[in-house]
Amino acid sequence: MRWPKGLTGLCYGGDYNPEQWPAELWPEDVALMRRARVTLVTVGVFAWSRLEPEPGRYDFDWLDRVLDLLHAGGIRVALATPTAAPPPWFSLRHPDALPVTADGVRLSHGSRDTYCASAPAYRAAARRIATALAQRYADHPALALWHVHNEYGTTCHCEYVAAAFRRWLRERYGGLDALNDAWTTSFWSQHYTDWEQIRTPVATRYLGNPGQLLDFRRFVSDELLGAYLEQRDLLRAATPEVPVTTNYVLGDWVPVDHARWSAEVDLVAIDHYPSESGPGAEEQTAFAADLARCWARRSPGGPAWLLMESAPNLILTPGRMHAKEPGRLLRHSLAHVARGSRGAMFFQWRASRGGAELFHSALLPHAGPESRTFREAVALGESLTRLAEVDAGTVAARVAIAWDASCRWAMQATVLPSASLDYAAEVAAAHRALWRAGYPCDLVIPGDDLSGYALLVLPALYLVSDRYADQVRGYVAGGGHLVVGYLSGIADEYGRVRPGGYPGAFRDLLGIRVEEFHPLDPAERVPLADGTTGRLWSEPVRLAGATVVTTYAGGTVAGRPAVTRHDHGAGVAWYVSTRLDDDAYRDLLRRAAERAGVAPACPAAPPGVEAVRRGDGAGRSWLFLLNHTATTQTVPAAGTDLLTGGHLDPVTLPPGGCAVLREDGAAG
Ligand code: GAL
Repeated sequence: MRWPKGLTGLCYGGDYNPEQWPAELWPEDVALMRRARVTLVTVGVFAWSRLEPEPGRYDFDWLDRVLDLLHAGGIRVALATPTAAPPPWFSLRHPDALPVTADGVRLSHGSRDTYCASAPAYRAAARRIATALAQRYADHPALALWHVHNEYGTTCHCEYVAAAFRRWLRERYGGLDALNDAWTTSFWSQHYTDWEQIRTPVATRYLGNPGQLLDFRRFVSDELLGAYLEQRDLLRAATPEVPVTTNYVLGDWVPVDHARWSAEVDLVAIDHYPSESGPGAEEQTAFAADLARCWARRSPGGPAWLLMESAPNLILTPGRMHAKEPGRLLRHSLAHVARGSRGAMFFQWRASRGGAELFHSALLPHAGPESRTFREAVALGESLTRLAEVDAGTVAARVAIAWDASCRWAMQATVLPSASLDYAAEVAAAHRALWRAGYPCDLVIPGDDLSGYALLVLPALYLVSDRYADQVRGYVAGGGHLVVGYLSGIADEYGRVRPGGYPGAFRDLLGIRVEEFHPLDPAERVPLADGTTGRLWSEPVRLAGATVVTTYAGGTVAGRPAVTRHDHGAGVAWYVSTRLDDDAYRDLLRRAAERAGVAPACPAAPPGVEAVRRGDGAGRSWLFLLNHTATTQTVPAAGTDLLTGGHLDPVTLPPGGCAVLREDGAAG
């Protein structure tokens, strides 16, 4: 396992941007970090213009002092390459390296992320600054981890990108015939006769080609990965013993296949900023952390991963920022640690006085150390120190949900029968249902080994290759339990519809056939015979071997099956043809899980108390109990609470309270 050099136990800290402050303040920063028991800080993420004030002239003196101070304070450093924010001189010198939007507008500096990752001048400048940093700090004793760039995810439509896209397409398809076929270019006269005719999906008169859009997103993911690998390889060559990573950003605008990237990062690191403040934030946190944990299995550093950024308090969201109420800092951090994060890191250490994110929260807020946030930050540091032993464990899940970046990108084309369909929202709804029912679950990508799972859920797996469809069929035939959501199996890996009736690739497995779709208005609800409701989608399902679980009791498909079940080989396959309301979805997945013989992590945990178990596979286990409710809750569980040192049996949690039990009866 590759892990930040010199660090044991859980990491705690965040982005430290000393270049925003006078040097006289730096010793105070380090002293306060020590008070909060900070162990790791990310330095230099956006410091390019301070590190290379003029082309080729480096100023490392200030960074030397910062690293020395941190080292003297016993704080380790994730040293970042600053390539997400080229300095103004760079864009003035290389206007061809500025990004172009799909509308043909070339952007200018003044923010961050304003570069084209395919522009030769940008790549060369990025390599130069990364090399200079590597040479300067390879032997610095504070260096624990290389943090490449920040949140890869930009796109550009300039000629460099178009040329790189064509090269990628030539490699993928070999010849134009295969590409024309995959993109169905016979539709609307788009047949290509020369590679040079192919553009990136720029603005055009009306709807673009969905096959082109899908391949473009796949290409951007590979192209950005290429930019990362260039830096990773030169950093690795300079310091083979120091792991290299980059922080993933999650969001529907990000054209990065994180699952596939994870084989190339020494440890998976994610940034997570929930867009909701209520219970939705807990659900989003659990989902993101489960994704990270499963991505991390593909990484040399896995199964551990790291929450690289989150918000200590106010989160920068459009419209209105929302605050974390007292206690949530610890609870959210523990939700990540419960799912395998080796610590909790934040954006940022000290709140900025100016700049675009001056009101984004920080561990050390504008108010200074005499503040609720800093007190909670100190308490969190102490709690994380007490949890060091949980690092030995990881979550074992017997339920999995499929996740596929290509599927998400295919569904982002504006060609589906309803604009309300959102792949990530469908997967999140399934995850939320299982989270509410208390089942730990993994997120698997096509090709992952399914043999350890008793239940597999495929929400809106719109695009599926023959190979994956075969794998899923084999899984059920061998005794697996499967729940398939609407809009699954419809298209092949190029995004072309599979003819013969929906749900295409899964018709036989599910024992049903659907001839047409009946999408619903966003506000519309359709009653089902069992008293629940469906929304977003409905279909006149025809049985072809399956049995009915419930039927539509209204709407245009009244009387037709809404949920079905079909025995296939030694297993069983359910089909859900509408978006069930949250409670009904939870109940259905619970039924399916019970039939599959799976139990929740802590069956007696009351609703609103999240229970996650980390086990070391050798008899030791830790049960994380997080009370997300506003009332005191009692959980029939026993063990030593690492947070307080007390033995609990049962566990009484105050509103918003947490416990991390080293479980009784476990070897130890
Ligand atoms: C992250 C980013 C940070 C900061 C933060 C604010 O996505 O990496 O630099 O901008 O968001 O929420």
